[in-house]
Amino acid sequence: MSELTRFSVAMPADLMEELDRYTARRGVAKNRSEAIRDLVRSALVDETVEDPDAQIFGTLTMVFDHHANDLRDKLDSIQHAHCSEVVSSMHVHVDEHNCLEVIIMKGASSVVRGISDALLGTKGVLHGKLVVTAIAPEGHTHEHEHAHEHTHEHTHEF
Ligand code: NI
Repeated sequence: MSELTRFSVAMPADLMEELDRYTARRGVAKNRSEAIRDLVRSALVDETVEDPDAQIFGTLTMVFDHHANDLRDKLDSIQHAHCSEVVSSMHVHVDEHNCLEVIIMKGASSVVRGISDALLGTKGVLHGKLVVTAIAPEGHTHEHEHAHEHTHEHTHEF
């Protein structure tokens, strides 16, 4: 984290009370400033992951019946086809029929979502959910890539 800058915010009293209740629910280590910083990071991450080209992390949790026709093969093939994005996976044999698999991916938002859609759309997958996140802009050293050379002055919103 870079140096802290103080600023004042005007807020309706009842919204402020809600903020304090929210802060209290977040746990003992959180104060009002910390809660606001977390909210800002969360908003920035939410915005980042919507960008199809943004580098994100995706955690896909899915449940399937391993008896379904060559389902394991199909799910593995999709993952092997994207081995640079599929970072890790964990498989749990839940009961006689059902398997739970957690797949961690990283890569461009659109690619990660595409892999997730392919896996969840495979016949025999019962249900699942993709959770996406990114490192908050302040937390990583980012490079700006430009498709062309340019000399004009510009500022980046990060
Ligand atoms: Ni299994």
